[in-house]
Amino acid sequence: MLYKRTHMCGELRLSDEGKNVVLNGWVSKARSLGSLVFVDIRDKTGITQVTFNEDVPAEVLEKAKSLSREYCIGVKGVVKERSSKNSNIPTGDIEVFADDLTIYSTSETPPIYIKDDDNVNDELRLKYRYLDLRKQKMQRNLTFRHKIVKCTRDYFDEQGFTEVETPVLIKPTPEGARDYIVPSRVHNGYFYALPQSPQMFKQLLMVGGTDRYVQIAKCFRDEDLRADRQPEFTQIDLEMSFAGVDDVIEVQEGYLKRVMKEVKGIDIETPFPRLSYDEAMERYGSDKPDTRFDIELVKLNDLFEGCGFELFTKTLSEGGDIRGICVPGGAEEFSRKKIDKLVSEVKHYGAKGLITIKYEGSEITSSISKFFSEEEMKAIMDRFGAKSGDMVFIVSDAPKVTYDSLGFLRRRIAGMMGLLDDNQYNFLWVVDFPMFEEDEEGNLSAMHHPFTQPKLDELDKLDNDILGLKANAYDIVLNGVELGGGSVRIHDKDLQARMFKVLGLTEEECQVKFGFLIEAFKYGAPPHAGLAYGLDRLVMLLLGEKSIREVIAFPKNQAAECPVCEAPAPAGEGQLEELGIELIKE
Ligand code: AMO
Repeated sequence: MLYKRTHMCGELRLSDEGKNVVLNGWVSKARSLGSLVFVDIRDKTGITQVTFNEDVPAEVLEKAKSLSREYCIGVKGVVKERSSKNSNIPTGDIEVFADDLTIYSTSETPPIYIKDDDNVNDELRLKYRYLDLRKQKMQRNLTFRHKIVKCTRDYFDEQGFTEVETPVLIKPTPEGARDYIVPSRVHNGYFYALPQSPQMFKQLLMVGGTDRYVQIAKCFRDEDLRADRQPEFTQIDLEMSFAGVDDVIEVQEGYLKRVMKEVKGIDIETPFPRLSYDEAMERYGSDKPDTRFDIELVKLNDLFEGCGFELFTKTLSEGGDIRGICVPGGAEEFSRKKIDKLVSEVKHYGAKGLITIKYEGSEITSSISKFFSEEEMKAIMDRFGAKSGDMVFIVSDAPKVTYDSLGFLRRRIAGMMGLLDDNQYNFLWVVDFPMFEEDEEGNLSAMHHPFTQPKLDELDKLDNDILGLKANAYDIVLNGVELGGGSVRIHDKDLQARMFKVLGLTEEECQVKFGFLIEAFKYGAPPHAGLAYGLDRLVMLLLGEKSIREVIAFPKNQAAECPVCEAPAPAGEGQLEELGIELIKE
């Protein structure tokens, strides 16, 4: 029999004393003390203690004694003040004296505890995600995500945006990752790609006169997974006609202000700081700088020109850089052991080593002291503004290695020294990204994507300084995480064709890949610009979670598998035949 509930399990308070109530939920805990049975009943809102005593009919008491963890039950009873109150839970002043009980389903002993701080391994949590989701923290996370989505829809609706769905079975979009592809049954040997983003379709919507578009869009990218990357993730995807950089930024700052107020109750200041890409790299070694702490990179090249220390002179003669950071109070914090660990960590960023200089008392000590006079060592420390008690870390290498390793190091050290305040939200824009980047083999690719508009007054660089050409592209960054990115788009078909050519695409390749977009641009394309946020990342950061898996109901594991349904799985023989696919077995 289904009980019609009167309250949720986290709702009852002392003011409800005397009320007849009905609760539905799961058994969180059951203790039987002879003729007295205490049951904690739980739903997504909280837990209420239910007491069964000799006043209930014998068969009800027997049923209560049979209860065990995760049974799904309904309880009828009266709210009473509790004699021994529990100040740890909001319902701790009351208990429900039961007079009837129904068991909807029994439960086997669950493989994981339904407890927020249960340290069960991630794989087990993900396999039994439906049990993991019963945890209050997980339900809170899902509700919080829902609130952000609702606030997003409300805000953009008010700003004149229309939510439009774009197709999922498409041709590849050039966002830079590998595609997930889906074979066609009707056209054997042909494949759809799942969208890495709705990029080209949202641009077509602008050509189609939609003016302002928003979509909470599923995106798919076959790339290496990290704490803030999933193969299947969600974007808040946006595009605006007749808009440039400042128009997009203004609307987005309004949005983020609104989200922060509505879901966190925090007033944030706008406009956000804007840093050029070059400045972000020079000061923070990163295009997504965390500015919650003051440590910045310092370039030292001029100090070491013509010095006798071979490592430095070699770096400089090869066009490399010498950069460092100064960590206030670092001299005491960093033992040999800790430094060795950091050295092994920066290796991932290409650094062959770390030079350290300690300023203890009035002494400056370093493995490089023997190559420099006391005054020279003092001059190095002065460049950093270092004080007694501080410690300096230096990397001498190719420019990219110095940026990447020190960019990593400053944040790593800030974490070790407790400088990262989860309650501080430093939003900022990084603007003026380079249009192109070059890989180690010298292949050119678009840093954002090939539809990004280069700075129109710098177009001559296409011929003489291609890597120096900047784009009208911007990223929104929060506390060292790239929350979103976007750009003003090219709406001129000739410029678009020129960019494709620079990227090494033949006319035929362009036609095959993007012919429909180029064709659309022949018919009065409006100037347009847009941006996409990673919704999962936004929710993660505002909840203070460390991984986006904590804010996705059914995430993939590190091996891009769904531990719940066990995808991917082999296709049936008949299916492959229909698709005209034969597997090559090794
Ligand atoms: P971009 O590729 O920068 O831009 O993606 C936008 C934002 O999406 C999020 N994101 C991810 N989140 C989780 N897992 C992933 N694998 C993942 N990849 C990206 C990030 C990122 O900032 N079409 C353009 C946007 C535009 O130009 O309008 C695009 O997709 O938060």
